[in-house]
Amino acid sequence: MVDAVERKIEQYIGELGDQYVLRLYQNLPHGKRLRTKLILKIAGSSLKVVKTAATVEMIHAASLLHDDVIDDANTRRGTVSVNASEGNKTAIMMGDILYSKAFFELNSISSEVAKVISNAVVQLSLGELADVRLSRTFHTNRDAYLKMLYQKTASLMEASAESAAILVGKNRQAYRQYGHNLGLAFQMIDDILDITEDSKTLGKPALHDFVEGKVTLPYIYLHEVLAVEDREFLVSLHKKRLSNDEAEWIKVAMEKNGIIEKSYLEAKVLIDEAIELMECLGEKDLSNIAKAMIERSF
Ligand code: FPP
Ligand code: MG
Repeated sequence: MVDAVERKIEQYIGELGDQYVLRLYQNLPHGKRLRTKLILKIAGSSLKVVKTAATVEMIHAASLLHDDVIDDANTRRGTVSVNASEGNKTAIMMGDILYSKAFFELNSISSEVAKVISNAVVQLSLGELADVRLSRTFHTNRDAYLKMLYQKTASLMEASAESAAILVGKNRQAYRQYGHNLGLAFQMIDDILDITEDSKTLGKPALHDFVEGKVTLPYIYLHEVLAVEDREFLVSLHKKRLSNDEAEWIKVAMEKNGIIEKSYLEAKVLIDEAIELMECLGEKDLSNIAKAMIERSF
């Protein structure tokens, strides 16, 4: 049924009557379509559900187009990003087109769903802004980081699950909580993989987050446990193109201090809660999605 969502997105973009825009969309790498899978698992595959998933994916794609401009990223999911191949102006406008068309369609699906999703986009944008601010200097503000993570990543996952529940009259609060936990854990695991995986698997340079300025949870925890001199060294590497030795130093320090396990366990607490919630509701497939997330190596 993911195919039905792909076809719906192509139909929506086709309706705009612009071949260049359609071609740009068709060349975007699709990613895991996690939000679609979540929506379809919760709500089945009626037309309203397929349309909702299509609008969510269009909004997600729009946010990544803008994010790549903001991060000045040359690649997205291992291929050349739109800002790199077509320029920032095109990437921004392409994002605006996807986003606006998604909202136009959303309004005729359900006003309650439209409210939930538009609120998530406000959160997304606040989160991206907080991310930009937090990335300016090395910070140790765990609460601010977690809030930003919720806004930037979990909010759309949370809204997807809640919207799906609304469409089929399920308990919206429970599914919202599930989406919230899944979204947060997803990003926490992503932050860990940026440290533990090699650049070929990631499709971007290893330790890319830290080089970009993003002080993710593992770095905050590492900073907490290091001796003063090592702390200073860690801070001096922030936002710097790392030599192999410097990258290795960070990885070894993370391993030696049990930082990866600590961060992983924090994500696992959220996943376990999501699993328990879904098992209570008899949603085996959804609890399996949560299990798979904590077990993924990439
Ligand atoms: C990726 O973060 C970014 C997001 C998940 C959200 C970005 C949100 C906006 C730009 C605001 C919303 C805008 C619209 C048009 C809906 P990342 O840079 O940490 O991850 P990455 O490694 O995938 O780039
Ligand atoms: Mg980015």
